[in-house]
Amino acid sequence: MTLEFRSGRIAYDISIGNGLLLEADRIFDLKRKVLVVTDSGVPVEYARAIISRCSEGHLLVIPQGEESKTLESFESILSALLDAGFTRSDAVVAVGGGVVGDISGFAAACYQRGIDYYNVPTTLLSQVDSSVGGKTAVNFHGIKNIVGAFHHPAGVLIDPRTLLTLSPRLFSEGMAEVVKMAATSDAELFRLLENCDDPKPLLPEIIAAALRIKIAVVEQDPEEKDLRAVLNFGHTIGHAIEAASAGSFFHGEAVAAGMLYAAEGEAAARIEALLRKFSLPVSDPFTTEELLRFALRDKKRSGEAVKLVRVDTIGKFRFEWADPAALGALIQSRK
Ligand SMILES: NC(=O)c1ccc[n+]([C@@H]2O[C@H](COP(=O)([O-])OP(=O)(O)OC[C@H]3O[C@@H](n4cnc5c(N)ncnc54)[C@H](O)[C@@H]3O)[C@@H](O)[C@H]2O)c1
Repeated sequence: MTLEFRSGRIAYDISIGNGLLLEADRIFDLKRKVLVVTDSGVPVEYARAIISRCSEGHLLVIPQGEESKTLESFESILSALLDAGFTRSDAVVAVGGGVVGDISGFAAACYQRGIDYYNVPTTLLSQVDSSVGGKTAVNFHGIKNIVGAFHHPAGVLIDPRTLLTLSPRLFSEGMAEVVKMAATSDAELFRLLENCDDPKPLLPEIIAAALRIKIAVVEQDPEEKDLRAVLNFGHTIGHAIEAASAGSFFHGEAVAAGMLYAAEGEAAARIEALLRKFSLPVSDPFTTEELLRFALRDKKRSGEAVKLVRVDTIGKFRFEWADPAALGALIQSRK
């Protein structure tokens, strides 16, 4: 199945299907120099499947993990492009999770002021979220995503079969993002998740439904000025949990626990049941003071108040400004 992203002059397709990796040359224009960037944790067969379909494919493997989302990795991509004589009509393909996608997209945005890049996301989180929307970045001086650019992919290929090699914990982390999108924007997807015993056979449909939400939000708010904040459901307190945990909570796990602070009534009970089903945390061990300190340090802070996304009915959301006292009371209500 193919979804379309259209916003102003930006237009590209997102192709979703089991086994699509083997059709990359039908979906992307690979009749040119192509640098395929992947990381050391992604099975290399995925990158090789793309390279074997390029007229001139080059492979670059960067070390896996958030620690390599740096200017050094960015530079290694630029060096590979320059050394192999890439021109403005050549292309980069990112094969991996959000780390590979974000760095490769940023390098493609900068090389010769912008060349094509294609995204082949291979984690569930990147398939339902980071592969679409055009945000690219590296971390700098310990600050996440502080240096980057908006540069949309020229195309996205999602092969859910690549998720078969993903660890169960990373798979669950991606499900947290799916639950987040369904909870705010798609009651039908939420019910589908509630009613299925195993989401794996339904992945193409689930990924497409989650992406439709992301696409609709980004199309309406391409530069993240307003509505795009809905994608931050669970993130204000989730980021605080992630920071307080110093690495023991993965991002998606922290967002899972964070969503329950921002949900109310019947929606909260249904979200909690779904998170449990996908082996995601529904609480955290941190004190109100610790979470408040990290939440107010968050970059989404605007003056004294923090913009929260609240859900009391599945499929609907509202924004609410909370000053430090109100945020503290909200956190304390679940302690
Ligand atoms: N650009 C955006 O809009 C956006 C949105 C959300 C997150 N992000 C960024 O995405 C990053 C997180 O992405 P992520 O969760 O995909 O992490 P990741 O890219 O670090 O991937 C997680 C791990 O999974 C491994 N892996 C990837 N695919 C695999 C596969 N198919 N089989 C086995 N192992 C595989 C990787 O080697 C890595 O070790 C963060 O840097 C975050 O800032 C960006």
